[in-house]
Amino acid sequence: MNAGKVYIETYGCQMNVYDSELVLSILHKAGYTRCEDISEAGILLVNTCSIRENAEQRVWGRLDLFLAEKKKRRGVIVGVLGCMAERLKDKLFAHPAVDMVAGPDSYRKLPELIEKAVAEGRQSDTVLSFHETYSDIEPLRTGSDKVTSFISIMRGCNNMCTYCIVPYVRGPERSRDPKSIIEEARRLYGSGYKEVSLLGQNVDSYMWRNPDNPTESVNFAQLIELVALVSPELRVRFSTSHPKDMGNGVLYSMAMYPNICTHIHLPVQSGSNRMLQKMNRKYTVETYLERIGKIREIIPQASITTDIIAGFCSETEEDHKATLELMQNVRFDGAFMFQYSERPGTKAARHFADDVPADVKTRRLNEIIELQSAISLENNRKCIGHTYRVLVEGVSKRDSGQLFGRTSGNKVCIFPSQGIRPGEYADVLIESCTSATLLGRLV
Ligand code: 5AD
Ligand code: SF4
Repeated sequence: MNAGKVYIETYGCQMNVYDSELVLSILHKAGYTRCEDISEAGILLVNTCSIRENAEQRVWGRLDLFLAEKKKRRGVIVGVLGCMAERLKDKLFAHPAVDMVAGPDSYRKLPELIEKAVAEGRQSDTVLSFHETYSDIEPLRTGSDKVTSFISIMRGCNNMCTYCIVPYVRGPERSRDPKSIIEEARRLYGSGYKEVSLLGQNVDSYMWRNPDNPTESVNFAQLIELVALVSPELRVRFSTSHPKDMGNGVLYSMAMYPNICTHIHLPVQSGSNRMLQKMNRKYTVETYLERIGKIREIIPQASITTDIIAGFCSETEEDHKATLELMQNVRFDGAFMFQYSERPGTKAARHFADDVPADVKTRRLNEIIELQSAISLENNRKCIGHTYRVLVEGVSKRDSGQLFGRTSGNKVCIFPSQGIRPGEYADVLIESCTSATLLGRLV
């Protein structure tokens, strides 16, 4: 074992993947090195997610394993980072493995917290910030390819959807200085990366004001243009858009720059206006459909994906049918679909009964998944016979003779390698498909 070696596991969203890279960078500067083998590390970290109960359950399970590691080797330090650290704070010390708890805005203090945990025992820091954006820290990239990378453009969330824990664990919304975002994109492009995904809980509310000159500001539509201008060879993606804030400006920026990918992830959550109001989403089915219409008018080839929650508080069969109907109507290219999971402390947990029985939630979720998979297949079939420019990300996991990459619309595409390498663009003619993948050949 080496006390200076850090092992980190990451759960949850892309933002957490990025945060783990920030953590590794901060620890690297303090003299620690990354280690991918748990049995060699002196510091074991788990970067956690609180979005649904099962995400937290998985982490408790990992802590049991970390405890077993601690028993094998004296002096191992275990730290819990991220959203669960923020939500549960010192309650995490109930698990005998845990020596350190650090919330999403406390990562600069990690070297100090680790030192103190070694010298004095349990340490925690979960103070949330109005300002922290880690804008000066270059993440230590951990991705499996050297082609695509994340860039966090903002932190926190001010939306207060009634079901959601994020505003409580990630703190208030803050936008990062655009100069540092563009510099990060330039450095990535300079070291061979070909795609950046700009991350925020609600990218459409990105707004940076120059603290020295408040009349100077940059909004999200302007930011994606600035990043697109880094190079026409650098693809730009972003996530997540919010239907109440996604304006036409973003769509015009997308239409103007061929390297801004034609994919919008626009979580709808439900197709029932009663549910949307209860969720505090601040849009209606009608205004959502108006936004979809505008996307298709300005970017006809756009892929649109969504998030859907089944079985939110008091959801009736009629509300559920309205969700299925909306799906039929919009015909999303893909969706992340979940059963409602009550999160302690949220408005829904405090004021509404979690009253849809578990078996009903499961059945409704299955109906949603089944419908989406038929629609995804149908949309993918429409791609057959067309040629798409694919950015090659790597070798297919199932067949080493095949490469995989994604189209501008974020569809995964598999094709025989024929001398093309990861990081290159390939024009691929689609010959067949499944609901999840396009299969083709180089043209
Ligand atoms: N239960 C189930 N799904 C949730 N999501 C957020 N909070 C919950 C919850 N309490 C889903 C939403 C969101 C996605 C990131 O996770 O669909 O868009
Ligand atoms: Fe990401 Fe939300 Fe999970 Fe936190 S709770 S890791 S912000 S998905």
